[in-house]
Amino acid sequence: VTGGSGAGGEPPIDYRRLYREGAAAYDRLVSAEDADGSLLPALAAVAELAGARVLEVGAGTGRLTRLLAPVAGRIVATERSWPMLDVARGRLPEAGGARFCCAEAGALPVRGDWADLALAGWVFGHFLEWMPDGWRGSVAAALAEMRRALRPGGTLVVLETLGTGAGAPAPPTPDLAEYYAWLEDEHGFARREVRTDFEFRSHEEAVELVRFFFGAELGEAVRRGGGRRVPEYTGLWSLRT
Ligand SMILES: C[S@@+](CC[C@H](N)C(=O)[O-])C[C@H]1O[C@@H](n2cnc3c(N)ncnc32)[C@H](O)[C@@H]1O
Repeated sequence: VTGGSGAGGEPPIDYRRLYREGAAAYDRLVSAEDADGSLLPALAAVAELAGARVLEVGAGTGRLTRLLAPVAGRIVATERSWPMLDVARGRLPEAGGARFCCAEAGALPVRGDWADLALAGWVFGHFLEWMPDGWRGSVAAALAEMRRALRPGGTLVVLETLGTGAGAPAPPTPDLAEYYAWLEDEHGFARREVRTDFEFRSHEEAVELVRFFFGAELGEAVRRGGGRRVPEYTGLWSLRT
């Protein structure tokens, strides 16, 4: 997930703060995501996962780590927010033998040619908001660092939002559309679209957690819609090095 807050005049959500102070709620949110289990087959369609050495960037509370752990060989999951890492480490048994490290996307703690798969799930979309003038340089530096860590013939994967609560897959903002086109045109990534609907335990939880992460407007739409399922689309960009 990546939020698209600030719609309809509401103040934008401070995601850097959210990743420091809201790690437990974030983990509840993403635990309800991908209710139909579409992400793992989508990843398996672009990379050999069985026994793979996986490098994860911006691993958050380890949701993708736990998804990949049963099939992958070794996982190094990197993340810069300690509170997010604490939640991830608290669920370590579910993440198999994954190793969680505190690291910036631009300086990854693995040697060159180590990984079969390097992936970043819903990380770089934030750079557009955090670095409106410098996101291209920062994302390019992170991608170059992931490429350094990959063996020749390895696979680079970037996951980003194609809309939460929307009826069809599309970049939620013009800025994200520009970023996605840049991944494809400048870096040669190929895009797939994956349905990753949320299914919460209750309608109340759906409203609470959607509001927490996506803001009051989408929270209100979920409240009006009733139910505990929220549609979502994810883009999977992949590149064989
Ligand atoms: C939307 S969360 C995604 C977390 C996880 N990949 C998932 O699927 O749930 C974005 C994460 O990227 C991390 N992050 C953002 N910028 C980063 C950077 N430059 N280096 C490392 N982690 C970063 C944030 O701290 C946050 O945990």
